[in-house]
Amino acid sequence: MKRRTVVAGAGSLALLAGGGALGWRSRVGTADAYAAYVERLRAPLPTNAGVGDLVRYATLAANSHNTQPWRFRIGEHSLDILPDPSRATPVGDPDDHHLYVSLGCAAENLAIAGAASGRPGTLAPQADGSIHYAWSRAEPRREPLLAAIARRQSTRAPYDGRPVAASDIETLQRAARMPGVRLLILTDRAQIDRVRDLVVAGNDAQMRDPAFMAELKAWLRFNPRSAMATGDGLYSGANGNPPLPDVLGRPAFDAFVTAEAENERYARHIDSSPGIAVFLAEREDRAHWIAVGRACQRFALTATTLGLRHAYINQPIEVARLRPELATLVGAPGMRPDLMLRFGYGPLLPYSPRRPVAAILV
Ligand SMILES: Cc1cc2nc3c(=O)[nH]c(=O)nc-3n(C[C@H](O)[C@H](O)[C@H](O)COP(=O)(O)O)c2cc1C
Repeated sequence: MKRRTVVAGAGSLALLAGGGALGWRSRVGTADAYAAYVERLRAPLPTNAGVGDLVRYATLAANSHNTQPWRFRIGEHSLDILPDPSRATPVGDPDDHHLYVSLGCAAENLAIAGAASGRPGTLAPQADGSIHYAWSRAEPRREPLLAAIARRQSTRAPYDGRPVAASDIETLQRAARMPGVRLLILTDRAQIDRVRDLVVAGNDAQMRDPAFMAELKAWLRFNPRSAMATGDGLYSGANGNPPLPDVLGRPAFDAFVTAEAENERYARHIDSSPGIAVFLAEREDRAHWIAVGRACQRFALTATTLGLRHAYINQPIEVARLRPELATLVGAPGMRPDLMLRFGYGPLLPYSPRRPVAAILV
């Protein structure tokens, strides 16, 4: 969405929405209230952390469309992360690939927070699609990635183009090492340009697909009030866009977020990024998709620790017919690429919402 255009129109939109400034505020909520909400959500793990705090930390993980497709079951010395099919996105993710990657991301956060709070354990994917975390009591461990869990975000903004030191790239590679998962990091500009063209082709295909757009729109949250009320979805503020009342958000989205505008935005964002990471699993099954999520979350947390931002660019993976070309381009012909993100130095944007722990316990 063109930020200036929307801001300029906001005054007249306020009149359209009715009720003037006060009515506007009650419809969209305030930035202050949202900031206080985020601070509670992302409060540091207390020294005497309870199991509820571990669940909260697990849910701060990256997850597709921020649907948070999980539920948690607390056991005696265990925690189970269960898939929540009611939060699947069958159009964009017909085989639940992203859903299981998202569970993997949450599982990695859980294992880190568990060890840091004196509950180190092991993660085991189960045949029913859940992940079992069995822990035992121990001294709290210093976990170098713990602090990044609350600070990590997907930053969908232009970066400043500065190259990343080879030693930091090596650190990212090492941090994301996971059995069954390959990570390829691209820094060659000609190769990145070709990936960019594939992302644009994928984005174009998705935005011209009414079913994909209908599913996406169901998860858009146009203002702090809606984001806090549902605790999920893609909050416009986290993309750097100004708030709009719900009744105006949809028409504004339809008017400004065109395929042409988004293609141009993605191209600009990738041109500003010094690196791209591509994750590929050795096999196509749930256990490997969970492993991809774990590896990717470790990459994202390590990047955050190094002062790097990241954002997902999965379009040529989600549009299945583009996958073979992407795989060949990155030097892994015949494999299915699982996840792709760009990274670099950039601004911090507002954080995305999460549901309260009580709402996701079974
Ligand atoms: C499997 C998976 C796929 C994702 N795909 C995309 C994507 O294609 N485009 C995008 O902008 N973000 C994508 N994301 C990022 C999520 O939208 C993001 O994690 C979520 O909105 C929560 O925001 P946060 O990462 O800032 O906490 C993906 C995340 C995961 C785990």
